[in-house]
Amino acid sequence: MGKHSSAPMQSPAGRFQPPMPLPQAQPLGVFALVRTLRSNALECWTKAHFEQAIVLGGFPFAQVAVVSDPRSVRQILVEDQSTFRKSTIERRVLSARLRNGLVSVDGDQWQRLRRTLAPMFARKTMAGFAPQIGGATEALIERWQNLPEGTVIEIKTEMLRYALEVLLRCIFAEGIGDPEAVRTATTRFYSTCGTLDPFDVIGLPDFVPRLTRLREGPIMRAFDDELKKAIAERRRSLAVSPNATHDMLGAMLAARDPDTGASMTEAEVKDNVLTFIFGGQETTSSALTWAIYLLSQSPEWRERVIEESRRLADASWQTAVEGLVQTRAVVEEALRIYPPIIAITRTAIRDTEIAGNLIKRGTLVVVSPYVLHHHRLLWRDPDLFDPARFSPNASEKIERYSYLPFGVGPRMCVGAALSLQEATLALASIMRRFQLDLAPGQNVWPVQSNFTLRPRGGLHMILRRRGTSARGSSRPTDIVANK
Ligand code: HEM
Repeated sequence: MGKHSSAPMQSPAGRFQPPMPLPQAQPLGVFALVRTLRSNALECWTKAHFEQAIVLGGFPFAQVAVVSDPRSVRQILVEDQSTFRKSTIERRVLSARLRNGLVSVDGDQWQRLRRTLAPMFARKTMAGFAPQIGGATEALIERWQNLPEGTVIEIKTEMLRYALEVLLRCIFAEGIGDPEAVRTATTRFYSTCGTLDPFDVIGLPDFVPRLTRLREGPIMRAFDDELKKAIAERRRSLAVSPNATHDMLGAMLAARDPDTGASMTEAEVKDNVLTFIFGGQETTSSALTWAIYLLSQSPEWRERVIEESRRLADASWQTAVEGLVQTRAVVEEALRIYPPIIAITRTAIRDTEIAGNLIKRGTLVVVSPYVLHHHRLLWRDPDLFDPARFSPNASEKIERYSYLPFGVGPRMCVGAALSLQEATLALASIMRRFQLDLAPGQNVWPVQSNFTLRPRGGLHMILRRRGTSARGSSRPTDIVANK
């Protein structure tokens, strides 16, 4: 298939075209489709997906409707939850691993959990995690400061480590027995479970064994053991000081369903810890990785971020996070160009209609953030990197249902506020301290792998310390570290 060049084309005002596959001229045949879904789902889209409001297609076992019309997106994700349920494919892929986690349950069980967990994910509660984000950012900056000048680092791995660190600090403020065991387990978890099983994709029934699941058992047991110990310890400390609910684990153990007063079971707490790590690490690290790459290709936007970060270096956290307007625009644009989750899926549980098309019961309904964000009918120059779209006085008004990195509606991402503030603050801190350039021979290509959009083979960059900041300090205080 044709591809855009991986050498970005520059245009004025820091806009350029980042690398991405050219859409297929025609739909792939079944075997090519299954093969491509496994190697890089991003290369399956056809021109029609980016030009039409709805594209119907599918496999012998499953009908598929890819929907990109904002009104229909609203119908599917917001208004008609009783017809469009979490898809069978998601249930197969996620429930086996995350059991009763918020992302994988449905119906009454989901409603009860979401109600119970809602206060924990309120914007105000999330803002309270600033010190945890600050601590993790400081640790990253310090580690990088100690590397020899010119070291080549792999950004995706670094960001995975950073995002996990933030999550572990937010979930276990009192620490976890063996954090290294958890780190190892998450890495193995993604590399083992992170590939779509073609049997799930083509809709073969559950009783057909999936080879991709055979190696998962021991990894899940390692997680379970660590979590069990952490929960038991926290229950003991909560018995002594019942108000010690300053982290996600404490908040979950203390949470009550506002309707029934019921608390979460131990299994639910465990499954949701796993869900937050799973839901938050890959995704946020992917957003940060792409933002760093995109800035490395746009000197104008890099300078704006550095200038803004320097200006706010001594500000309180609250002022900093509100003031990092340009940095946040870069993060939002990175989430547009390379949305970590490229497809949100639902199953139509009865015959219905979308934009005048008959949708048969059992159809897999796909709302793809990637397709929406690059759709010809919804964006001006959709393939160009241009964070100005997200600046407060942008000329282009962004239509609510055409920009969905975190989904929308009742099942919208609970971690959106946390990851946006984490990515914005980390990006500003990193850019102010370090110059990051692509390593020689590094070709950047987006690939759907381990559930998210990653740079194929990683993103290798040369790390150099920046000269002294505008304020003259040779080692400026990190934005988030001094709150
Ligand atoms: C850049 C970062 C992130 C992206 C792009 C992202 C993306 C998404 C998307 C698209 C959904 C909606 C799926 C749907 O409607 O079917 C979702 C749901 C979810 N996300 Fe995130 N997420 C991110 C960060 C996080 C973080 C940090 C956490 C946890 C701390 C998290 C936990 C969850 C959970 C639990 C759900 C399921 C919500 C429900 O079904 O009620 N995510 N995420």
